[in-house]
Amino acid sequence: MTNPKTKTDHAEEDVLFRLLRQIDTAPAASQRAMAEALGISLGRLNALLRNAVETGFIQLSEKNSNDKRQRVAYALTSKGAATKVKLTDAFLTRKFAEYDALHAELTGTTSGLNPLKSRAKLMQSNFAPIPELYVSYESAQKLKVEAADLTSHDLSPRQICDLELLLNGGFNPLKGFLSEEDYNGVVENMRLADGSLWPMPITLDVSEDFAASVELGQDIALRDQEGVILATMTVTDRWEPNKSREAEKVFGADDDAHPAVNYLHNQAGKIYLGGPIVGIQQPVHYDFKARRDTPNELRAYFRKMGWHKVVAFQTRNPLHRAHQELTFRAAKEAQANLLIHPVVGMTKPGDVDHFTRVRCYEAVLDQYPSSTTNMSLLNLAMRMAGPREAVWHGLIRKNHGCTHFIVGRDHAGPGKNSAGEDFYGPYDAQDLFRANEEEIGITMVDFKHMVYVQERAQYEPNDEIEDRDNVTILNISGTELRRRLAEGLEIPEWFSFPEVVSELRKTKPPRAKQGFSVFFTGFSGSGKSTIANALMVKLMEMGGRPVTLLDGDIVRKNLSSELGFSKEHRDLNIRRIGYVASEITKNGGIAICAPIAPYATTRRAVREDIEQFGAFVEIHVATGIEECERRDRKGLYKLAREGKIKEFTGISDPYDVPENPELRLETENTEVDHCAHQVILKLESMGLIKA
Ligand code: PPS
Repeated sequence: MTNPKTKTDHAEEDVLFRLLRQIDTAPAASQRAMAEALGISLGRLNALLRNAVETGFIQLSEKNSNDKRQRVAYALTSKGAATKVKLTDAFLTRKFAEYDALHAELTGTTSGLNPLKSRAKLMQSNFAPIPELYVSYESAQKLKVEAADLTSHDLSPRQICDLELLLNGGFNPLKGFLSEEDYNGVVENMRLADGSLWPMPITLDVSEDFAASVELGQDIALRDQEGVILATMTVTDRWEPNKSREAEKVFGADDDAHPAVNYLHNQAGKIYLGGPIVGIQQPVHYDFKARRDTPNELRAYFRKMGWHKVVAFQTRNPLHRAHQELTFRAAKEAQANLLIHPVVGMTKPGDVDHFTRVRCYEAVLDQYPSSTTNMSLLNLAMRMAGPREAVWHGLIRKNHGCTHFIVGRDHAGPGKNSAGEDFYGPYDAQDLFRANEEEIGITMVDFKHMVYVQERAQYEPNDEIEDRDNVTILNISGTELRRRLAEGLEIPEWFSFPEVVSELRKTKPPRAKQGFSVFFTGFSGSGKSTIANALMVKLMEMGGRPVTLLDGDIVRKNLSSELGFSKEHRDLNIRRIGYVASEITKNGGIAICAPIAPYATTRRAVREDIEQFGAFVEIHVATGIEECERRDRKGLYKLAREGKIKEFTGISDPYDVPENPELRLETENTEVDHCAHQVILKLESMGLIKA
């Protein structure tokens, strides 16, 4: 056991806490005013200030003043700001304990405000403010100037989402990106080092080079993608995580088919940094500003409206009738007000984008009683971790002042694993939530799958239908909905609201009106460009969508003129083509690409980039190397054989034959026109062009 702190230690800590708070909120105050605010003598204040400067909590700066005694100003350093947050916790815990003791003395009963291990538990009321990690406006202005000289880390989109919720208290009790000890506890048994429940590793992943450039104990600036400094972090920990272990323990399998595992292995940096953070400014959002609320803004709203009980509904999908029924039932069951709390940060790849979803939510909001329902957007980066994610969502909603939380079937499910099976059981999330419900501090409202009973013209939980043999049960799965949208088929009124369907149709027009990319790959001289040109003309003749040809030679001239043919340069060339094609696809055009693209991994990466927006049709022009060399239309093979061109694909450089292209074209003894026609037939069969 560690030695308990004495009363004097506490008094010292309290006065330091008050000093840091004072400098944070009124850095320009005179020393006299400061001493008065702290209730101490000027002499004591001076000693304290000297000490705090020596420890690195505050720093001196000159200020323009005619008064000689007021020429120096004090400002909080990042270290001081982080210490202030820590001391706030200790201070509050002690004050609650004192209050409780007094309460017991006066009434003989406990106040119910017992200081527990974590501050989250002290928040008995959903009305009380929750701690944030921001410094005051005045300190932020100073820290910002100071932070400009620090080593900077440019945050990834996911890290920005995490940072926002760390700073505004959505991830309370976390005070920064996890330390190694906290991380190990979270991965192994969902607990921080102090024992508090926390199921999700919130880590700052960085490259090896960046990690090597940072010393432990050093402050770094955390910047958004435009370079704005959002926060500083004191790096206390740096380690190389065992990512496979993290995948197994947190996501249930080390399988790249899981979106968060894929992110972990293929996008996240190799090294994690941990340490407390100090918030300088909130991440900026230009969209739906009025619909975004911090935990404290929501708590203030609940306080103002007198909403003692609030049931939160988490969603990453548009609201259809089944969701409406589920939310109505949950509010009724819990006798609570309803908070529709959709995630607009990052959801599962392939989901309907949040702009469309928010328009869909707004379109159906008037179906809800406005006096008991509110909608607020949550900038969370989901991990699709099913059971652990449900517990995490519960803690986040608790921090946002909600008292109840809906957990339905397959909460935050990632879909199928690489063996085609579900990662988690449909009710695993409910089970894990139930087992931790008390500690999460929010009541679960659990639901079984809701289905439509035609004869009664209403939605009912599937497991509560007693006369199921005598009624017609209807349901449209997410996959079926996507198919109907893609093919422009009817979406019945019993399933969704006409306003929602019309919004979805605007963003997801039928396939024959969506953009797509045709990606030819094959040896030099295989016929890619010739077939691509013929295809372009045929598609232009049909009309309806703009067509762009990104031929290998054209791209090398206009986009990649500085590149050679090393693996690195070829990959860069193909990624550039992929980027342009994905933009064309996103905006409803047709991109025809015709590079050699010899590496399968790069082709797969391009496919992933493009499939977010439309179809990717890979066509292997399978002309053999002997035939290409025999044709040698550009005379390059001869030069390659003579060693005058190095790294020549098929001669002195590799080519990965596509394993599962959408189409393989055998060009030998086949007319170009016929090859192009085969592509047209393929596009028709995929619904990309009308027959
Ligand atoms: S890659 O690998 O996809 O980046 O290649 P790509 O940009 O499509 O190549 C464009 C043309 O460059 C000519 N060329 C070579 N090809 C392969 N290997 C080497 N070393 C090389 N040097 C020049 C070749 O003619 C390619 O054109 P195509 O249209 O394929 O014949």
